[in-house]
Amino acid sequence: MKENNEVTAIILAAGLGKRMKSPLPKILHPVAGRPMILHVIENCKAAGFTDIRLVAGFGLNSVKAVVEPLGVQIHVQAQQLGTGDAVKSADIESLSGDVLILNGDHPLIEAEDLLAMVKEFRSSGVDLMVVTTILENPKSFGRVVRSGGQIRAIVEAKDATQATLNIREVNTGMYLIKADVLQDELPRIRPANAQNEYYLTDLVGLCIEGHLKVGTFQGPKRVSWGVNSQTELAEASRIKYRQKARRLMEDGVILMDPRTTYVESTVRVEPGAVLYPHVMLRGNTRVGAMSSIEPHCYVVDTDIGNSVQIRAGSYLESARIMNHATVGPYARLRPETVIAEEAHVGNFVEMKKVQFGARSKAGHLTYLGDAEVGEDANVGCGTITCNYAVDRKKYKTVIGKRVFVGSDTQFVAPVTVGDGAVIGSGSTITKDVPPRALAVGRARQVVKENYVKDEAAKGDSAGGNEAADKKSG
Ligand code: UD1
Ligand code: CA
Repeated sequence: MKENNEVTAIILAAGLGKRMKSPLPKILHPVAGRPMILHVIENCKAAGFTDIRLVAGFGLNSVKAVVEPLGVQIHVQAQQLGTGDAVKSADIESLSGDVLILNGDHPLIEAEDLLAMVKEFRSSGVDLMVVTTILENPKSFGRVVRSGGQIRAIVEAKDATQATLNIREVNTGMYLIKADVLQDELPRIRPANAQNEYYLTDLVGLCIEGHLKVGTFQGPKRVSWGVNSQTELAEASRIKYRQKARRLMEDGVILMDPRTTYVESTVRVEPGAVLYPHVMLRGNTRVGAMSSIEPHCYVVDTDIGNSVQIRAGSYLESARIMNHATVGPYARLRPETVIAEEAHVGNFVEMKKVQFGARSKAGHLTYLGDAEVGEDANVGCGTITCNYAVDRKKYKTVIGKRVFVGSDTQFVAPVTVGDGAVIGSGSTITKDVPPRALAVGRARQVVKENYVKDEAAKGDSAGGNEAADKKSG
């Protein structure tokens, strides 16, 4: 990989992306859940390039916020005067070695494509290499004009004659060039065309004039696959998700319907895991071996262990679920929640910042926030931690091992329940409970005999016990 360290990648991305018809800068539009520019940058990194420069303009601040954390240098192109001017903005005087130029809106390129280009550039010994591809319908792409097999020029569709438009070999917008050649030739580009733009493609003619060697390399179609409209954006996402689904299946993951399984490229799923239809796995998520994720689950930045069942309709965010646990259906786990081995979180249970002990259960209709629950505890239906107080601060509930919490209990935090304690149903617990104690905090039941008047009682038992009716009448 060392030699690739000498490749500088210049990513052109200052364009307005007018046809997207959206206020978001084009390169921040999501492809398979992530800004398309991240796909391009990550593949440059995976190819071993360490000097990555992004030429940006439109929506500069939001672009910076997304790409700077990745260590990419941003260069501003103040005015969009064309692709030649865009490259000029990337501080080309500081370049040495080989330079790869590519587009920020071609999110389907792969590191292997980039490596193949670099390899070809180096073995062919040319000064400028244009990456081309053959398209059935080349539309607005620049056409590769050859004579005697040798590339002579790239002609933009807007400037082309009908004969030139019939050429199916196109410029993908990716080039490799020696840094010194770029430094010498780029300043010579003139905006001598119908659009009054500085065309980077004019480098071909300039290099030929200067007796430098110009070659081409035919890449796969995906390198030319640019996003220019919302339709193409959706299509790019579809391609990426299908590609990930295929890779997962190749690695032994079971997908019931790969067409409706949405797994981002950053997610790891281990062999034997089962993904049902309409599952979305995002970000830094891992799904361990033999786990299953049922339909309509949304999982982001969550670590799921082995043989875990995530049942239908669950929403998991920045949580950790350990081996053999079961979660859902319809559970919501919020950040910093850890569900230990063999624990069970049932339907309509929400947890936030909870350490939930091994083999413990919270089966139904429960909210736990800022809580610790020990091992082998049982949290009854309808239990609530009252963690948020009038002072707008959050307080903690600690429930020990083997605690039995009766249904419909409220814990008014801060409060601690010792190991093995029992909480009576319907309690409001405001004070600590010692280990193995019984705590009941509820109004005593009051019974008023013969409270219901005779006439009303008659109506109640209509069609019921006639004997009882007569007796009371
Ligand atoms: C360009 C090529 C064309 C090629 C096509 C492949 C030129 C003159 N033409 O055409 O031969 O087939 O790409 O997609 O280069 N950009 C800037 N600043 C600018 C202008 C553009 O940063 O002033 C960026 C855009 O954001 C985009 C890239 O450069 O990422 C290409 O620009 P675009 O306008 O899409 O070029 P095309 O006309 O499609
Ligand atoms: Ca384009």
